[in-house]
Amino acid sequence: MSALEDLNARFALAGQLSFVDGPGGLVQARIENDLAAAAVTLYGAHVMTFQPRSHEPVLWLSPQTHFAVGKAIRGGVPVCWPWFAAHPEQATYPSHGFVRTQPWQVSATAAMPDGTTRLQLTRAATPDETEFWPHAYRLELLVTVGQSLSLSLNVHNPGQHAFTYTGALHTYFTVGDVNRINITGLDQTDYLDKVTGFDRKTQAGPVIFTQETDRIYLDTAATCVINDPVLRRRIHVAKSGSQTTVVWNPWAEKSAAMPDMGPDAYRTMVCVETANAADDQITVPPGASHHLQAEISVEALQ
Ligand code: BG6
Repeated sequence: MSALEDLNARFALAGQLSFVDGPGGLVQARIENDLAAAAVTLYGAHVMTFQPRSHEPVLWLSPQTHFAVGKAIRGGVPVCWPWFAAHPEQATYPSHGFVRTQPWQVSATAAMPDGTTRLQLTRAATPDETEFWPHAYRLELLVTVGQSLSLSLNVHNPGQHAFTYTGALHTYFTVGDVNRINITGLDQTDYLDKVTGFDRKTQAGPVIFTQETDRIYLDTAATCVINDPVLRRRIHVAKSGSQTTVVWNPWAEKSAAMPDMGPDAYRTMVCVETANAADDQITVPPGASHHLQAEISVEALQ
């Protein structure tokens, strides 16, 4: 029996979930139920697509992304852990931690009575990671696909000593035209502006996009709403276990310089990231866990 056949024998759900070989040989779970469709690769526990019935795709996945072991996937929902963005001390360590470019294991699947489909992926420490992260850990990402997409990252410390981390569910969203959207939910919230060297500023009104935008909004548990008059919809991003929201669009020059994005890619995407970053560092005592959750739903505009 091949590894793929074995996965399907143990975890496929008739008519709802199956495992297939995806681009780059990366195995992915294809989920399709009466409420929505989604694809999740075991590589990085990376949700790549999500589309509720009667809506356009919600997540943005770069047409130029690499699907290859060792490369991060551009788009969808990278799981960033155990550090957000650049490592605070080690410039050569991978951006956004290492688990987004590592294999995860399937630990459970379930067809739920409410019509949603669940997939749980797990990753525990391996000896070759101790260079980056010397602590024992167990991550579980529970993906629930229904009318909304629910992502729950459980970070468990099975070791003898506390550890402290940052991270994010780094969601990329499809928008009609980034020049025409706005994001509400962050009015009067302080943020660090990465574009101007981490200056501390305060948001006034909705977030609009006219240039490169890379902001770490501080001390906020608010739901954000992406208001999109072109795709005639609102995307709601609700969260828990997170006091940080990151908003990112690289704009024209940086987008063109990124081989896995391309010149105009920035126009149709925006990231609203459910994060633990900056001062929002999470310490997990031995035997304890922290849960980071994001709930993504779409509302059609008339
Ligand atoms: C965002 C950061 O979360 O991710 C940006 O705030 C960064 O600074 C972006 O450029 C993409 O990161 P990466 O490592 O996936 O290219």
